[in-house]
Amino acid sequence: MIILAIETSCDETSIAILENKKVLSNVTASQIWEQQQYGGVVPDLAAKLHLKNMQKVLKKALTESQIEQKKIDYIAYTEKPGLVICLQIGKVIAETLALYLNKPLISCNHLEGHIYASLLESTKEWKFPVLASVISGGHTQLYYLKKHLDFELLGQTLDDAIGECLDKVSLFLGYTYPGGPVIEKLALRGENTCPLPLTKLNDTFDFSFSGLKTAVRRIIERKKLENNLTRLNINNLACSLQHTLAKILTFKIKKAFNEKKISTVALGGGVVANKYLTDYIQKFLQNETKNVKLFLPQRKYCTDNAAMIGILAYYKIAKAKKAN
Ligand code: KG4
Ligand code: ZN
Repeated sequence: MIILAIETSCDETSIAILENKKVLSNVTASQIWEQQQYGGVVPDLAAKLHLKNMQKVLKKALTESQIEQKKIDYIAYTEKPGLVICLQIGKVIAETLALYLNKPLISCNHLEGHIYASLLESTKEWKFPVLASVISGGHTQLYYLKKHLDFELLGQTLDDAIGECLDKVSLFLGYTYPGGPVIEKLALRGENTCPLPLTKLNDTFDFSFSGLKTAVRRIIERKKLENNLTRLNINNLACSLQHTLAKILTFKIKKAFNEKKISTVALGGGVVANKYLTDYIQKFLQNETKNVKLFLPQRKYCTDNAAMIGILAYYKIAKAKKAN
């Protein structure tokens, strides 16, 4: 089965071609350089750049896959959530291709795509039940799946997402967007020396990160006033922030283990590229669970990409075929 997938929900124009679970091409035009000067994603600019880049991304994805257009069996695209004007561009391109090639159209959820990215090119399958988490710039969510595509939302952030928190802290420190990779690099030279608030919201699976973000901001402002925002202080603060985020996430994962049967943990989203965070969760699973496998997307499939939409479509098609 050959799937052409399109992702345009935010600031990446991405097209992938998959043969079942194998990625034949995954071409992404990133807008990071253009968006960086605004400290975040400007929707109008994102839409303009999707239109500018779409044709060359499509051409490159087709060429790299070495697949003839007539061999494509399905067209998949990100339906939601995301920036509406950007999603509409992906939808129109997908509908046009589906009409032109006379192939079925598969609409996909971006967040489900992030979770299914951990199955891309994997020889192993999830064992159910699965505890899944999307940790991205726009979302921090925990899901429970008893079977494929059966998403039960356990909890989510009530304010900022983890990625958003990292992006903002990077800006407070005078660095660029996206902040996650910046904080990860700074943290490598720091230590966990700054106590930061652990917002756990004990009774629920929901998260809250805005208080943590504000606490970090206050520390930065105080150190600036004291003329003491040294390289070492910045590195230590970055490390402490990562540590605190990892601890909060692991607290919720642990809560889920206490209350539910879980055989697999699957993580997805841009922040999952962070090795400190995933190592911390991996260590928890090794120490406190028996044989629970952690599924992570390869680093290149953590941030937004069309291959994750393609793999989600693959499982959706397989489920529909099974039902018939
Ligand atoms: O999944 P994604 O590409 O877009 C959304 O759907 O939001 O995630 C983007 C987020 C940004 O907040 C970015 O700072 C974060 O992922 N990110 C990271 C790393 N790489 C990207 N966070 C922590 N460590 C990283 N290495
Ligand atoms: Zn995303």
